[in-house]
Amino acid sequence: MEKTGICIGQSTTKEVTFLSSGNVRLGDYVELKYGEHKTLGFVKEITCINRAVNENYEFKDLDKLKNLSEGFNSYIGKITLLGDVDKKMFIPRTPPPPGTDVFPASKKSLEEVFGKDDGKKLKLGTLLTRPDVNVYIDIDQIVSRHLAVLAITGGGKSNTVSVAIEGILKKHGTILVFDMHGEYLNFEFKRNGKSVVKRLELKLNPINLSYKEFRQFANVDDNAFIQDKYLKRAFRTTAEEIANGIASTNSFWERLLSELEVFKEKAVEDPDIRDEKRSIVGVINKVEDAKESYQELFDLFQKPIVKQIDPGMLNVIDLSQVDEKVADIIVSHVLRNLLEKRKKFIHGHKEGLKFPILTILEEAHILASSTINTKSKYWISRIAREGRKFGLGLCLVSQRPKSLDSNTLSQANNMIILKLVEPGDQRHVQQAAESLSSELVEQLPSLNIGEALVMGKMIGVPALVKIDFAKSKKSGTDRSAVKEWQEIAKKSKEIEEEMNYLMNFDDE
Ligand SMILES: Nc1ncnc2c1ncn2[C@@H]1O[C@H](COP(=O)(O)OP(=O)(O)OP(=O)(O)O)[C@@H](O)[C@H]1O
Ligand SMILES: [Mg+2]
Repeated sequence: MEKTGICIGQSTTKEVTFLSSGNVRLGDYVELKYGEHKTLGFVKEITCINRAVNENYEFKDLDKLKNLSEGFNSYIGKITLLGDVDKKMFIPRTPPPPGTDVFPASKKSLEEVFGKDDGKKLKLGTLLTRPDVNVYIDIDQIVSRHLAVLAITGGGKSNTVSVAIEGILKKHGTILVFDMHGEYLNFEFKRNGKSVVKRLELKLNPINLSYKEFRQFANVDDNAFIQDKYLKRAFRTTAEEIANGIASTNSFWERLLSELEVFKEKAVEDPDIRDEKRSIVGVINKVEDAKESYQELFDLFQKPIVKQIDPGMLNVIDLSQVDEKVADIIVSHVLRNLLEKRKKFIHGHKEGLKFPILTILEEAHILASSTINTKSKYWISRIAREGRKFGLGLCLVSQRPKSLDSNTLSQANNMIILKLVEPGDQRHVQQAAESLSSELVEQLPSLNIGEALVMGKMIGVPALVKIDFAKSKKSGTDRSAVKEWQEIAKKSKEIEEEMNYLMNFDDE
């Protein structure tokens, strides 16, 4: 292969400067052979110079000269060294000496680094500057070290997530999606002719909830001490009676309200607690309101959501029809249970959850917000920190990285960053990802839809990737407002014409 440049000046084990006569572009992969090394590099900077054309000439002379100097252009650039191809991409200990030739990276070398499936990987796409080279990412690394998928709205996040889902399902992996827009329900992925998408019943059995989870439905804050005290007692007694078969499951609300009524009567009779009556009446009203508002959501015979999860499937919790408060309670309830059940399994309990799960959270900035303290934020950050030990992976998807809780984001060791234009978002991502150099951050605004910077243990060395198009995902394509308006206008015109025709007919 023909060389594209020669190393000049000073070089280190991380970076070299090179001179080239052309034939090299920003983002190209190159190969340097010296001593025992075959080192892969990435062109991170490039400048064009022509020593014959400079400021020492008058304009009219330069205008004549410039045609003569054509072909004397040189390119000076910088290469980031990524590692030795034959040594698992270890960074070389000695720098390439000046004079070392720079070659375009061979397809074989690039495939050695990006293009091999050792049985645990999925195909994400192709290298942006080398469409002939496939890029694979390691699924085990995603589950154990989490993943953040970040981009402006419409940048291609859901498509990227769908490509990952397809790859994981091919390996019989288990996925749970908190689907904020109901866009994963019609995912078309079949195994042995059968769909592997399972919609989980979004019904809660109150006795499976923790008191704190239930309390949110009744709108009782933790600083409403008296209301909290009585509701807690009534809830615990009711749940215990149902669990022990003393009360029947379908009498949950009645039992709860009658417990509270007993407390109210006591307060009327006992002068010591008489002034607590107002609070008890308040909590009774709140429970009645909760019963009315959430009757649809509560199902007293429902199997817990976590027990509905099937291995090898894309399990979808459709949150598109519920408000943020309910979504928060459901996500925190499910994540708490996932963590508890996996811990039980690892410690040898029979009723534990037997298989690892990758959980995908779309619109992660809402529930794992940097400013608002949601209930689920606590469990999201627990899984981000501890999930690794229990086979619980987290994939956070967001179009507003700077509104994402930075502690949680920094636990996502793997990142797929598509187009990001806002400097605040870029800074936030850069702070969370230590290895994200400012040169790479500079690339982010100029990426097109579906083009991404991929980094973390799942890939080994960072790469710019053109993400594949996910065939299984049917919804999510941009709607055309103009097309929809025109269709409506066309229909009303047709109706008008028909009416006119019928009226003329009547006249005759
Ligand atoms: N790699 C790709 N190849 C081809 N088309 C793509 C690719 N990525 C995204 N698209 C297209 O771009 C559009 C937006 O993609 P997508 O829905 O994945 O974006 P998003 O970032 O999830 O958007 P939102 O912020 O609205 O959730 C879709 O029509 C999708 O088909
Ligand atoms: Mg999306």
